[in-house]
Amino acid sequence: MARLGVNIDHVATLRQARGGSEPDPVAAALLVELAGADGIVVHLREDRRHIQDRDLNLLKDVIQTKLDLEMGADEAMVKVALGVKPHLVTLVPERRQELTTEGGLEVAGQRDRIKSIVEMLHDGGIPVSLFIEPDPAQIKAAHKIAADYVELHTGRYANARRLKEEQAEFEAITHAAKLAYKLGMGVNAGHGLTYRNVKRLIQIPEIVEYNIGHSIMARAILVGLDRAVREMKQLVG
Ligand code: PXP
Repeated sequence: MARLGVNIDHVATLRQARGGSEPDPVAAALLVELAGADGIVVHLREDRRHIQDRDLNLLKDVIQTKLDLEMGADEAMVKVALGVKPHLVTLVPERRQELTTEGGLEVAGQRDRIKSIVEMLHDGGIPVSLFIEPDPAQIKAAHKIAADYVELHTGRYANARRLKEEQAEFEAITHAAKLAYKLGMGVNAGHGLTYRNVKRLIQIPEIVEYNIGHSIMARAILVGLDRAVREMKQLVG
């Protein structure tokens, strides 16, 4: 049985489209929890294009489950995290021009820099997850810098068009999950997951949490947020 973390960034994107106050991601978070989600995930981007600092503070106060803050690995963001104290920080690569997070964090190539960010968060009592490709070199590097969790990037699996390619990506995720688990890290997974493609991943027992945003919010527009979250929760456990 795995946990479901629901990314509510899209609710904030819709609000920002008109610059007003609705829909409120804080209200959405409460409905998401009532529908059975195990956690709320938000990405505070440097350009504040969707989630705002105000959302983060309110969410930390009102949610009853867990707040997972996704953020870029830089000191300004660490300052925000230390003020809010989410239950988990997930470090992600961030580029201004991207539509969504593209690719995993390059930990192996910049170990010292990421390590110092992880240490600052640990000093503030915040566990840290690293969003990385399902690649053994990245897993080992995450372990070396004392990450508590890895979040395996499932984008390549989700985007695979041919069965052979999907099989190869599934195997890479399975192998990465087992290695991370063996090294003592918690294993989360996310990006591009849908009601269809998540079904295969749930066969990997080492994955304890799925973080899913777009697919749930897309369904919510058509069938309502409550039903969309319940249907995904049923699939992941
Ligand atoms: N996990 C991480 C680290 C992400 O950056 C995102 C996208 O914000 C997700 C999970 C959710 O991806 P999706 O919206 O494609 O479900």
